[in-house]
Amino acid sequence: MTKISVIVPTYNEVGNMYPLIERIDKSIKEFDHEIIVVDDNSPDGTAQVVKELSEKYPVKLVVRNNGKGLATAVVEGFKHATGDVYAVIDADLQHPPEKLVPLIWEVCNGTDVAIGSRYAEGAGFGKFKLHRMIMSKGANTIAKVLLPRLANVNDIQSGFFAIKKDVIKGVELKPTGYKILLEILAMGDYKVVKEVPYQFSQRKYGDSKLGASTVFSYLKHVVMLTFREKESKRLMKFMLTGVAGIIVSVGMLWFLTEMMGIFYLTSGLVSKEAGTLLSFVANEFWVFNDRIKFTWKESAKRCVQFNINRILSMFIVIAVMVILTEFAGIHYIISNLIGIVIAFPINYVMSNKWVWVGDMRKGLKVGAQKV
Ligand code: GDD
Ligand code: MN
Repeated sequence: MTKISVIVPTYNEVGNMYPLIERIDKSIKEFDHEIIVVDDNSPDGTAQVVKELSEKYPVKLVVRNNGKGLATAVVEGFKHATGDVYAVIDADLQHPPEKLVPLIWEVCNGTDVAIGSRYAEGAGFGKFKLHRMIMSKGANTIAKVLLPRLANVNDIQSGFFAIKKDVIKGVELKPTGYKILLEILAMGDYKVVKEVPYQFSQRKYGDSKLGASTVFSYLKHVVMLTFREKESKRLMKFMLTGVAGIIVSVGMLWFLTEMMGIFYLTSGLVSKEAGTLLSFVANEFWVFNDRIKFTWKESAKRCVQFNINRILSMFIVIAVMVILTEFAGIHYIISNLIGIVIAFPINYVMSNKWVWVGDMRKGLKVGAQKV
C-alpha cells in the first residue's frame, strides 16, 4: 500500500496545530500515512503542542535549532520521510488539508508532481492582496523565462504540492530562497506535472513570515538555478565543446598548412572535419551522454546527423558573411564571428532536439487539469 509522508514546516504556528493535524489525519485516513512537522524551534511553543499531538496521531516532530527558513525545513522533512509519496502543506490552514487528497490521487495515478494551484481553472486567490498577486505573477514570469523547463507550470510559487519520492531521489536540493517547489521543478527528475486548483484561504491565527526580503532571495534563487539546472549546464557544456572544436580546427589548419606544406584548402577541409568530430565525441560522451545508450550503429547515425547540422551551420555562417561583408562593408573576421553567434543557437536546437533527442522528451506532459 502506498504510504504518504506529509511534510509541514512550522514557525510560530501554535494556534493552528490542533485543527491542522486533525484535518490532515482525517482527510488522508484511507492511506497509510505519517505527518512530519519540521519546526525551527518556535518561541511560541509549537513543538510542545506537536509533541502532545504525536500521542494521538502519526506525527513525527523534527526540531531544528540552527536551521532557518521554510524551504530548507521542507528538505529536512524529506530526509525523515519514509513514504512513497511526499506532500507538502503549510501549517496555517491557508492550504486546505482536504485538498491533499486530490493531489495524492494524482501522484498515485502517474503524475510525478501534483501542484495545488491558485492559477488553474476553478482556483482562486481568495482575499490575497492585490500587490501580492502582482508580485506573485511577476515572479512566475521571471522564472519561466530563465528556466524554460518551468514554462508550462502556472503556480511555481505554490507551497502546496505532492510528489513521487523518486522525483527527488539522489537530487541535491539546496534552495537558497523560500521556494521549495521552484527548486524541485528545476532540479528534480519528472515527466508529468499537473495542477489541481484550490482556493487559497486567509490565515486565521498568527502572521505570515514571508515579507518583502523574500522577493530578493527569490530572484537570487532563480539566477542560481540557471547555473545549477541540468539543461543550463548542458548548454554551457555544448558551448565549450564548440569552442574546443574551433580551437582544434584552427590549430590544425595552421599546422597542416605551415608545417606540413599542405594546400590550405585541403588542410582547411581536413581540420574542419577534425574539429567537428572532436565536438561530436564530446557531445556524445559528455554533453548528451545521459540521453543515449551507446551502440556503434546509433552513434554513426548521430555522427552523420551532426555533420549535416554542421554543414547547414556553415551555410548560415557564409550567408551572414556574404551579407555583412559584401553588402554592409563589415570586416570579414567580424562578420564571420557574427555568423558563428547566429548559427550557435540553431546548432544547439538541432543537436538538442534532433541529433540527441533520446527518449527524454517523449512522454513529457505538462498541463493543468481540473480534478
Ligand atoms: N520551519 C520553518 N522555518 N517554517 C517556516 C519558516 C521558517 O523559517 N517560515 C515560515 N514557515 C512556515 C510557516 O509556519 C507556515 O507553515 C509556512 O511555512 C508558510 O509560511 P507563511 O508565513 O504562512 O507564508 P505565506 O502564507 O506568506 O506564503 C505561503 O503560501 C504561498 C502560497 O502557496 C508559502 O507557502 C509560500 O511559499 C507560497 O507561495
Ligand atoms: Mn501562510
